[in-house]
Amino acid sequence: MKTIAVMASGGGSNFQVILDGIARGKLKVQVAFLLVNNSRCGAVEKAHAAGVMVYHYSSVTHPDPQQLGEALVELGHKNSVDLWVLAGYMKKVPSPLLQNWKGRVLNIHPALLPNFGGQGLYGIHVHKAVLQSGVSESGVTVHLVDEEYDRGPILAQRAVPVLPGDTPESLGARVLAAEHDLYWRVIAEQAAKLP
Ligand code: GRF
Repeated sequence: MKTIAVMASGGGSNFQVILDGIARGKLKVQVAFLLVNNSRCGAVEKAHAAGVMVYHYSSVTHPDPQQLGEALVELGHKNSVDLWVLAGYMKKVPSPLLQNWKGRVLNIHPALLPNFGGQGLYGIHVHKAVLQSGVSESGVTVHLVDEEYDRGPILAQRAVPVLPGDTPESLGARVLAAEHDLYWRVIAEQAAKLP
């Protein structure tokens, strides 16, 4: 069975869906640990409830970015991590990690990339931008992470309609539901492809 590490900064609903998928036997991977940059984020409680180890590495614990990257690489190797899964991780993934796990770092973005991505386009800002643009469709993108925000090769997308009267919140909720249905499937596929 492949081993994943999940990285999160927020509430952790995608992380919870991954845990549930594993508990129900739909997602056949094991979670080595949750890595957070904010020790008070909601994902931490979800990890504790599921008995998943939590590590808090950030610019506070590791002020030098290179040192942070090296510490993450060491943690990943020590735990035999096959795949890193970003689930609402709001920081740039350090280069040493990307170099050591080339093509093995996944991210989920709440829009149809390459549109509505990049620095500053996260969370509710994405849905505001989508509504302001007047497009009739938004959605979800799962992609490989590379050195640029939201730019790595796209693995899967799921469209979601923008409905009349949508607010950023109502659109965001519809997109999040699609995330929950899509992400675990892509994780399962990617894990199955690994040697
Ligand atoms: C999701 O919308 C995800 O696409 C984005 O951050 C959000 C995380 O939500 N990258 P949650 O913490 O999984 O609830």
